[in-house]
Amino acid sequence: MDKFIINGGKKISGEVNISGAKNAVLPLMTAALLVDGKTTINSVPDLRDTRTMMRLLNIIGAEASLKANSMCINASKINNLEAPYDLVKTMRASFYVLGPLLARFGEVRVSLPGGCAWGPRPVDFHLKGLEKLGAEISLESGYIMAKAKRLYGNKICFDFPSVGATGNILMASVLARGETCIENAAKEPEIVQLCHVLNNMGANIGGIGSSKIIVNGVDNLNPIDIDVIPDRIEAGTYLIAGAVMGDITLNNCNPKHLKDVLDKLKLAGANISSNENSISINKIDSISAVDVTTEVYPGFPTDLQAQWMAFMSIANGRSSIVDTVYHDRFTHIPELIRLGADIRLNGNKAEINGVEKLIGAQVMSTDIRASAALILGAIIAEGKTEISRVYHIDRGYDSIEKKFQSLGVDIVRVNE
Ligand code: EPU
Repeated sequence: MDKFIINGGKKISGEVNISGAKNAVLPLMTAALLVDGKTTINSVPDLRDTRTMMRLLNIIGAEASLKANSMCINASKINNLEAPYDLVKTMRASFYVLGPLLARFGEVRVSLPGGCAWGPRPVDFHLKGLEKLGAEISLESGYIMAKAKRLYGNKICFDFPSVGATGNILMASVLARGETCIENAAKEPEIVQLCHVLNNMGANIGGIGSSKIIVNGVDNLNPIDIDVIPDRIEAGTYLIAGAVMGDITLNNCNPKHLKDVLDKLKLAGANISSNENSISINKIDSISAVDVTTEVYPGFPTDLQAQWMAFMSIANGRSSIVDTVYHDRFTHIPELIRLGADIRLNGNKAEINGVEKLIGAQVMSTDIRASAALILGAIIAEGKTEISRVYHIDRGYDSIEKKFQSLGVDIVRVNE
């Protein structure tokens, strides 16, 4: 198992290229299953999760290969309509094969994802939505069985604008007969890209980027080439690193996808300049405490909540962070406290009392974004921090230690 050793407290500077978005590429890879032919996806981040999804597609019989951030997926010889427990339990996004396989082949067996490190994370919206489209759903030995000779359009209204359920229903409804109306749909940029890609394949989707998406089913879709949008969460993580420790520029990012995060960074005192696809930020001399409440897009993303907490741990004064998307996503708090942060949790609200400095310690990663928060904490902290279980961070950040090394961070990966 790898760990990171970081000697923190040093100023950083330089430029970093943002990779393609994990949460955009995963559904796009499964959208390739809708097509009898070869889809090419460019700007694919090289992550544990993209490799897990590739393994899953290969098990299903779609030939998927990755070369220099370009992925080819040939879904013309699919021969196994099952996503096994071993893969789904390591990556919940495996559930994205449900919609496309059901729509194209009329049946699919997908392991039910278990709980995750920070709570139950149910999939009821996905299943209720597919039932509305006419699927018969049953649970057998921990597997969801979904069957439908043909899906039929219907009106689906989610109780919460779930990213995954919106993606799954979109990918099912593009091949359904008639009109599907998805109300309270997710508006995240990754879902917007999925809609555009499906339309480029020949689908008929309207209301893209709004909370009411209308899909008119078509009989088949065509293979295309896709460029993945930049990862706004990776970008936000590096922006916070810049705000605390140095003057840095991010290239290949989309400032429009980060509006709320940039506004909050400015409130904290950051000096930020941006153009169409780059953002520069300077180290803040005296960080103001800024409260955040996570919301669905375009609000502050839950996927940056842990990193923001590391940032606020050295702000001047008290701040609070409320997570309204995942009420239990706080496994980073005990680890940040080991670095010297002063944080108290009450329900889904964390109160952070800014301290003068953090001090290096041994800490443990518990999930992708919690690990990113620990790296930020370690960069801020004086002295040596050891972060174990970094396989979590490898799920979602491409070449993280190389990118931080290029900014001057003293970080090495060690195999225990
Ligand atoms: N929910 C339900 N029932 C469902 C689906 C969701 O109750 O059937 C609830 C969830 O429990 C949660 C809320 O709805 O409280 C939102 O969940 P959502 O379905 O939107 O999340 P997701 O699709 O499972 C994606 C990202 C997450 C990100 C969330 C929220 C991918 C592969 N994952 O998850 O990313 O936190 O949206 O933006 O896109 C990460 O990258 O670290 C990560 C966890």
